[in-house]
Amino acid sequence: MQKKHIAVIFGGKSSEHEVSRVSAAYVISQIPADQYEIITIGITKTGRWFLYTGSTESIADGSWEKDENNRTAFIAPAPSVHGIIVVNKDGSTEKIHLDVVFPVLHGKNGEDGTLQGLLEMSEIPYVGCGVLASAECMDKVSTNIMFEHAGIDQAAFTWFYSSEYQSDPEKCIAQTEAALPQYPVFVKPANAGSSVGVSKAHSREELAAAIEKAAKEDSRILIEENIVGKEVECAVLGNKEPFVSVPGQIAPAAEFYDYDAKYNNAASKLYIPAQISETLSEQVRAIAAKAYLALGCEGLSRVDFFVTDEGRILLNEINTLPGFTSISMYPKLMAASGIEGSQLIEKLISLAFERAEKNV
Ligand SMILES: Nc1ncnc2c1ncn2[C@@H]1O[C@H](COP(=O)(O)OP(=O)(O)O)[C@@H](O)[C@H]1O
Ligand SMILES: [Mg+2]
Repeated sequence: MQKKHIAVIFGGKSSEHEVSRVSAAYVISQIPADQYEIITIGITKTGRWFLYTGSTESIADGSWEKDENNRTAFIAPAPSVHGIIVVNKDGSTEKIHLDVVFPVLHGKNGEDGTLQGLLEMSEIPYVGCGVLASAECMDKVSTNIMFEHAGIDQAAFTWFYSSEYQSDPEKCIAQTEAALPQYPVFVKPANAGSSVGVSKAHSREELAAAIEKAAKEDSRILIEENIVGKEVECAVLGNKEPFVSVPGQIAPAAEFYDYDAKYNNAASKLYIPAQISETLSEQVRAIAAKAYLALGCEGLSRVDFFVTDEGRILLNEINTLPGFTSISMYPKLMAASGIEGSQLIEKLISLAFERAEKNV
């Protein structure tokens, strides 16, 4: 049997470039080598695309960029190519056919529907959510509006454009304090990830500074009431009939789960299953499936909640391409629910083919 060609795309211009590389190394290690020929495409932080043919370890540590055999390569939008165009050192080009793409990119340009749009045009099946679900889940203002419409409980929120704040800061502060009368509040850029630009503001002064910080990341600013509760997450897998994992829980080692607590602080802990009652756990899973379908997610997503001591369940966000390292919540939750390593990867690939067939 001829092996299918799978492209794993990693890196990218987003602030989550490093995490993406470690996720990609794990995903590659779990793709069944007897069935697939793996083609690795790296995107540098400056946005250059290369076909990379070296070791997986060099993807994880970043040294892949210095590989002498790297050649410029890109997905062709034209369906007639159905793959990548590689530019050789002498300027000649060649085509490599792809059967499926596994984008292992987090954040901007990878998880937000942009790459998915290119893959739609190319007509190459790909793992994970489509254009609309990716874009909606990436933008926290859009997600909150969709949750509100779907009747899913979440933190009270308000939002404005950073340009509105620049031209009339008092008006935006007044709007925030009217909608969310109590400090602290959470300030977030609508489009970002890994807690970049997210702050907890305890006073009007801190609010102003937090807005300035968030405005560096995106043109829309979201402000939310502060929720005190456990951070509970579910891994979801599937297209129109999603499977939801047992919920897990993160216990940040900092005041909130900021970038450092997520990736650098070993004291941040994961609990699987989450330390909540069986009843709450079932409710969380049901809401995860409802939110996944309401946003049109496909393939996979990690759905993140707050669960308060009073038993209130509030949806925080959906990550359509969650961290996928060996110690990440998504693969761990799936493993705890009986779907282990390469089995998970095979399922994700088959879901990509299933969707592509249905869309024809
Ligand atoms: N409304 C909120 N109340 C309390 N904590 C919050 C709230 N929003 C975010 N946080 C904290 O900030 C972290 C990052 O926020 P989140 O919205 O998940 O952004 P990201 O996409 O960067 O993960 C969360 O994991 C949580 O610890
Ligand atoms: Mg989060």
